[in-house]
Amino acid sequence: MLTNKYFILMTCQKQSLQNLGILISGRGSNMESILKTIKKQKIPIKPSIVISNKANAKGLKIAQKLGVKTLLIDSKGYKNKRVEYDKRIIHELEKNGVTSKNGLVCLAGFMRVISPYFIKKYKNRILNIHPALLPSYPGLNAQEQAIQNGAKFSGCTVHFVDEGVDSGPIIIQSVVKVRNNDTEQTLSKRILVKEHKIYPEAVNLFARKKIRLSGRRVMILD
Ligand code: GAR
Repeated sequence: MLTNKYFILMTCQKQSLQNLGILISGRGSNMESILKTIKKQKIPIKPSIVISNKANAKGLKIAQKLGVKTLLIDSKGYKNKRVEYDKRIIHELEKNGVTSKNGLVCLAGFMRVISPYFIKKYKNRILNIHPALLPSYPGLNAQEQAIQNGAKFSGCTVHFVDEGVDSGPIIIQSVVKVRNNDTEQTLSKRILVKEHKIYPEAVNLFARKKIRLSGRRVMILD
């Protein structure tokens, strides 16, 4: 039987668990890796909601299978209404406990630029994964950019989201060698394997409060 003391301790620990919201647009393989790793490694964060801006995003079904609540907030018709769209997302995040005080938002292949309004509200609480070693090759088709530029190494980066394009403080990177015969597809495939490792790792560090920001530099605490 639990004594009062232990019951109070367990309740407090439960209350302090942060809530995770994941935004996707398509395949959702990074989302899947994050959700599975949270479960497997008992990362202390609660996956509260997965939101897609595309109706046909495969990741929605994957999240449902993993028992995570999903929502479609279609971005059709919101091309020039960034803040309006983001307010709808924020409303749903908040409703599900992913707040600016106790939430983490992971962009996982979310192919929409988010507004400064959203970024300010969730200051240093939004992460993104990018398939290149930033600050090289930001933006679209990063793997193709690396090949076209003759890079010998590329990789992937998890970073905080700021108001620029893929320009926020870098949390973790992983390096992938570019082979002579690489195509965009072959290089992307090898980079993706690394993405699936470093994104959950960054979520783990965030959940355990092991990340400190000093200007643009991210310090990982032991
Ligand atoms: C991933 O490779 C991710 O790095 C990339 O989109 C893919 C999404 O795949 N993101 C960007 O290029 C953002 N600039 P997923 O839906 O299977 O996670």
